[in-house]
Amino acid sequence: MNLPDKLKNKIIARVENDSFRNLKNQNNLIDFSSNDYLGFSKHNRIAQQVKLHLEEFKNINGSTGSRLISGNQFIYQEVELELANFFNTPAALLFNSGYDANLGLLSCVPQHGDLILFDELCHASIRDGIRLSNAKAYSFKHNSLSDLKKKFRNVQRKNAEIYLVVESIYSMDGDQAPLKEIAEFCKKNKIYFIVDEAHATGVFGSKGNGLVNDLKIEKEIFARVHTFGKALGCHGAVVVGSKELRAFLINFARSFIYTTAIPIHNVLTIKYAIKELLITNEVNKLKIKINFFKKELLEKKIAHLFIDSNSPIQACIISGNNKANEVANKIKFSNFNVKAILSPTVPVGKERIRFCIHSYNSSNQIREILKLLSTFV
Ligand SMILES: Cc1ncc(COP(=O)(O)O)c(C=O)c1O
Repeated sequence: MNLPDKLKNKIIARVENDSFRNLKNQNNLIDFSSNDYLGFSKHNRIAQQVKLHLEEFKNINGSTGSRLISGNQFIYQEVELELANFFNTPAALLFNSGYDANLGLLSCVPQHGDLILFDELCHASIRDGIRLSNAKAYSFKHNSLSDLKKKFRNVQRKNAEIYLVVESIYSMDGDQAPLKEIAEFCKKNKIYFIVDEAHATGVFGSKGNGLVNDLKIEKEIFARVHTFGKALGCHGAVVVGSKELRAFLINFARSFIYTTAIPIHNVLTIKYAIKELLITNEVNKLKIKINFFKKELLEKKIAHLFIDSNSPIQACIISGNNKANEVANKIKFSNFNVKAILSPTVPVGKERIRFCIHSYNSSNQIREILKLLSTFV
């Protein structure tokens, strides 16, 4: 059967404004686009450890059901305890992905009559979770404490619990939320603070424990979401917080309850990726590469085109889907993999090339890709 005309027209509109999405296979270009910041997705020691310990388990191909029915095994709780310890928090609950974690957490914790304040640049998974919740939600301008305070003053908050959601590192801009200042504001106003640490996990903190840990403000945060598909190079996510929060999520988070548990192979990969973080030098190497990238931007006099960021995500604004695509394609032609991020993923006029830096990118590669960029912009 044909696609109905309404759907077809939407696809045509995407093609016409250069924002049509299609799937491309992985390539062998030099990686400046993946989230595999530390190279853990191809880390031999992690893979070997997983292989070795997989033999201790029966259901190695699939988990057989949801955690609440047949899919739970002792190793899930063991890894959750290790994660709680690693992230310095009382409890942790694994989810199948960061998307599921945000969806589950935000759709069930804020109740009817409650309020959610969230940064306007929050990830789609946060926004979708908020949309599924029965609470009222208001966005504030990106990283703006003054707008946050203004929105807070204007909301009707009689008898409401208030939740505030930010990302510690923003996925498309790479910049950092003023976590300490927001945490103080939350404490003063009895607001429950939720932080998505997707892009800070494995990157910030002495052992990659995240930015909240780095700033030593764990006790000020109601819930944190750490994902494993980025610097940890595997898959899945965890919500960390109090033991009561964990129990609540097991009972009410629909994206936890109504889905098959992540397979044992995945749980073991998370376990050994976290173990690797404790001994690796890659986190340090990544910091050095980020600093080198920033130094090169200054030297090549193109720093003003970039959003200021100390993270592995460095975004060069190139307005217009067409232009951003054109520059990305030219760079790819020289053997480097970069991704143009187009509207509607980012606002119109803020289209960009998003450079993801990895511990395994050489200084020469960084020098070379920025030399290319500077000739095209
Ligand atoms: C800030 C943020 N939160 C959550 C997610 C979702 O994580 P996952 O890929 O594990 O579903 C992403 C992924 O892009 C993200 O950038």
